[in-house]
Amino acid sequence: MRIAVLAGGRSSEHEISLTGGGAVAAGLRAVGHEVLEVTLLRDGTWVHDGAEVALQAGRGLLGADVVFGVLHGPFGEDGTVQGLLELLDVPYVGSGVLASAVCLDKVVAKELMARAGIAQVAYVGIRAPRWEQEREAVLAELTGLGLPVFVKPARLGSSVGIAKVVAADALGAALDAAFVHDPCVIVEAMSAGTEVECSVLGSARSAEASEPGEIVIEADWYDFAAKYEPGGMRLKVPAGISAGAREDLRATAVAAFAHFGCSGLARADFFVEGERVLLNELNTMPGFTPTSVYAKLWEASGLGYAELVERLCRLAIERHADERSYRF
Ligand SMILES: Nc1ncnc2c1ncn2[C@@H]1O[C@H](COP(=O)(O)OP(=O)(O)O)[C@@H](O)[C@H]1O
Ligand SMILES: [Mg+2]
Repeated sequence: MRIAVLAGGRSSEHEISLTGGGAVAAGLRAVGHEVLEVTLLRDGTWVHDGAEVALQAGRGLLGADVVFGVLHGPFGEDGTVQGLLELLDVPYVGSGVLASAVCLDKVVAKELMARAGIAQVAYVGIRAPRWEQEREAVLAELTGLGLPVFVKPARLGSSVGIAKVVAADALGAALDAAFVHDPCVIVEAMSAGTEVECSVLGSARSAEASEPGEIVIEADWYDFAAKYEPGGMRLKVPAGISAGAREDLRATAVAAFAHFGCSGLARADFFVEGERVLLNELNTMPGFTPTSVYAKLWEASGLGYAELVERLCRLAIERHADERSYRF
């Protein structure tokens, strides 16, 4: 197959994406595929082989059979690039426009989880106009969450812009800081549970969950440094949770994947408090090197990196054909 690998992007996860893109390209080449590397520069332009890529609706991308976008965060994992690839009419790895957008928006995702009866922490979503007009009323409402709370921009990743607030008088400043990143902010009650992650692979019709792994960190919480500095995090597989919690977690990961309408892949992140399994979020394009959690969990479940990227490309082609079989 001829596969275009997209990496870089406009978000703060640009460098992380380049590392992931390089790994995917190497993995695909190792099993004999032709790889076209496309870099999405921070200014929004797309470059291949030193030249700007010409994008024409309905004309595919550089003659690729499938596109593997290893992009994280805004303008990459949030449905925007997925929409562009739909218009180019080329199969691409991962979730479509809506599921990508929903999973990247912490408030919308949590509203949908609530409707599906998926257990999660208590939260409050706040839009900028309300914060500007009713600051005191918002702060009063937030006391219902107790302390500590986590304050987050609704649509970032890699823990960028997130603050753990332990004292009520620090809450206003934390909200102001989060609103610098996004016009919508979420405040969540803290879970003291163990952080456990599970990889999901498959289609909207049928998906499977990997062996779950536990995130072991020295830091107080899983912040940017813990995520990306060497030794910041250790993945423990299997996770130190009960057999019942493990089954509940794997079933919830697959159920949430289906409920959000995901396809291809997602990493489902949880807090586990004894037998209580709380879903934190689904990442539709998680970190994707062979040493990233997503791939390591599949490795531990008997599926190697090269086979994993291959499976994802096949799922992308199947989904593209399937979606175009509907009348519109
Ligand atoms: N409600 C919460 N309770 C406890 N820890 C939390 C909570 N929300 C976030 N955290 C900590 O912050 C990290 C990043 O939060 P998360 O919502 O996963 O954002 P991101 O999308 O940036 O990964 C989590 O992995 C966890 O360590
Ligand atoms: Mg996370």
